[in-house]
Amino acid sequence: MRVEIFDLCPENVDEILRVCPPKTSNENVKIGLEIRKDWLLDLYRTIGPCAKITYLNNKPVGMIQYTPLHKIPYFKTERRDVLYIHCIYVKEHVRSRGIGSALLNSLINDMKKPNKLFEGKRCRMLATTARERQGLTQVSYFKSKGFIKTDGNIDSSLVYSLLKTSSKNLDIPHSKPLSIQEDDVKIFFSPTCHMCKYWNENIKAKIREVDPTIKIEECNLWVHSQEALRRGLTSFATYIRGRPVLPMNPQEFWEAIGRLTLETK
Ligand SMILES: CC(C)(COP(=O)(O)OP(=O)(O)OC[C@H]1O[C@@H](n2cnc3c(N)ncnc32)[C@H](O)[C@@H]1OP(=O)(O)O)[C@@H](O)C(=O)NCCC(=O)NCCS
Repeated sequence: MRVEIFDLCPENVDEILRVCPPKTSNENVKIGLEIRKDWLLDLYRTIGPCAKITYLNNKPVGMIQYTPLHKIPYFKTERRDVLYIHCIYVKEHVRSRGIGSALLNSLINDMKKPNKLFEGKRCRMLATTARERQGLTQVSYFKSKGFIKTDGNIDSSLVYSLLKTSSKNLDIPHSKPLSIQEDDVKIFFSPTCHMCKYWNENIKAKIREVDPTIKIEECNLWVHSQEALRRGLTSFATYIRGRPVLPMNPQEFWEAIGRLTLETK
């Protein structure tokens, strides 16, 4: 078994995208793949390689995506020494062979040295979301690899110190999405996942079952970051006439979308 790990570059970006199950026959997934690709390449040009890919016997089987925390525009932080992991994924048929660990260890080794993502300075800590989402296993996986849950903002409170002396407490305010005055729907989504457009369209369809004429806007969190900050958002969320619906288990989520659309009509 030959395992090789490479940093993101324009030549391997399509292979990184295809590691996660892409369901490319769906038109909205195809659009989502383009959104995610643009996000990755834009980061590559402005910050440096923000993903790694693993090949097993020359086949792409795993990937991890990350950015310095202070480069994520909807997180407010003074820290300049924290790397945020957006996601890790290993193809199902090759799991439990150490590929996820190899990706994580490769990233940790890079971050222990002065590196380009931190403009030649040291990274002192890794952070990721502690928000559990049905069907996704990365929170428990990171815990099994030594990440610790801290008291801070749920979307960045699972942390792993690279230096014994570094403070584990992040300065990001708690996620407290505010209700505001507005008449339309705004879907704040993350370009880090190629399923974003697919989910946006499903949300739109559910809302339009109840209110066929309501105006709906899709807001990329990395582009509409000022709006996200104003509302106290640090994760994707759907605002229905100013009332936020946050990630939760799917049944409750769809009920909340339908109910709020009706209540605010
Ligand atoms: C989590 C994941 C990356 C692990 O990859 P992997 O290559 O199988 O990991 P490794 O081989 O390095 O480690 C496997 C070991 O980690 C531990 N482990 C794996 N998944 C775990 C989990 N969810 N919770 C706790 N421990 C876990 C186990 O000890 C496992 O050992 P085992 O083989 O004896 O069961 C992979 O399972 C995956 O991609 N899952 C989906 C992740 C996800 O939801 N990503 C978000 C998508 S947007």
